[in-house]
Amino acid sequence: MSNMLADGLEALRAAEAPLLVLGALTAAWLAVRAVGCLLAGLRVWVLGNGRLVSPGSLGQWAVVTGATDGIGKAYAEELARRGFNIVLISRSQEKLDDVSKAIESKCEVQTKTIAADFSTRDIYPKIEEGLAGLEIGVLVNNVGVSYGYPEFFLSIPNLDSFINTLINVNITSVCQMTSLVLPRMVQRKKGAILNISSASALAPIPLLTVYSASKAFVDFFSRGLEAEYKSQGIIIQSVLPSFVATKLSKIRRATLDKPTPQRYVAAALGTVGLQSQTSGYFPHAVLGWLTTVLLPAKLVTSYMMGMLVSQRAHYLKKQKQG
Ligand SMILES: NC(=O)c1ccc[n+]([C@@H]2O[C@H](COP(=O)([O-])OP(=O)(O)OC[C@H]3O[C@@H](n4cnc5c(N)ncnc54)[C@H](OP(=O)(O)O)[C@@H]3O)[C@@H](O)[C@H]2O)c1
Repeated sequence: MSNMLADGLEALRAAEAPLLVLGALTAAWLAVRAVGCLLAGLRVWVLGNGRLVSPGSLGQWAVVTGATDGIGKAYAEELARRGFNIVLISRSQEKLDDVSKAIESKCEVQTKTIAADFSTRDIYPKIEEGLAGLEIGVLVNNVGVSYGYPEFFLSIPNLDSFINTLINVNITSVCQMTSLVLPRMVQRKKGAILNISSASALAPIPLLTVYSASKAFVDFFSRGLEAEYKSQGIIIQSVLPSFVATKLSKIRRATLDKPTPQRYVAAALGTVGLQSQTSGYFPHAVLGWLTTVLLPAKLVTSYMMGMLVSQRAHYLKKQKQG
């Protein structure tokens, strides 16, 4: 028995040195990774990309879909501030005229408006005509719609037309606009396409299922396309915001974690060329990291289920009360 104990101790002593080396190597690897992450974070969130998003680097015109409100309007304004001429595309000519006038009065740039309803599929020849001859440096595929309130799939009011509208606006528009603009970017070997997905693409969000799935499409489409065209000088970015205070999110008062669209877009444009998939805004990046790295997707989905079921009940109760 005592011989066995002595043999065991002997074996442990023999393994001591290799285990120490393994421990030291693991600690060094973790430290190098932590420093790497810190430096990458500083590069993106503190230093930014300098003058990369400018007409000189990418091309004279920027095209923004869903440009009369929220995040799209903020992209249009910020890109104009950086000297791009802007093509604004949205449904209402009146709102387009207002935004166009406001931009031209603040920045010395040209604007062009195209009134088009992305819920239909026959608008693309008209948009192609409107874009003809322009040197397009940036396309922001921003237009998007969501649910009126969280709802179980089969109980969504006018389900058939809801499905068509959501898919046409959130998915078809991204593919079709890209197919109109990308060929000339490839010819010029420069350009950036910024596709506005959503943090709801990171894990399935029940009761907003069609929206969340449509945004996962946008994210996958962007990342696949980035791999295809990166070597040809084209930047394709998948942008995944969490909450931003807009009409769509129904958030009226901005906070640090739910910023104004202007604040969000100023931060997001600093990540172009540095991150092909981005949360766009540092507090959202922390939230995205927590939900994807620290928490299992199943846990996030079941937490969201509980939260959205209660939001749905609250909404329906208020509707009943009139
Ligand atoms: N806000 C958020 O918290 C949040 C979070 C994650 C992702 N996102 C994404 O960010 C993008 C912009 O959202 P947002 O919050 O800025 O939305 P928003 O405030 O509702 O603005 C949407 C814009 O799209 C236009 N639009 C809506 N339906 C259209 C249609 N059928 N045809 C043409 N234009 C249309 C609207 O103009 P008109 O209504 O005047 O036509 C408006 O200019 C969306 O893709 C959304 O999914 C938003």
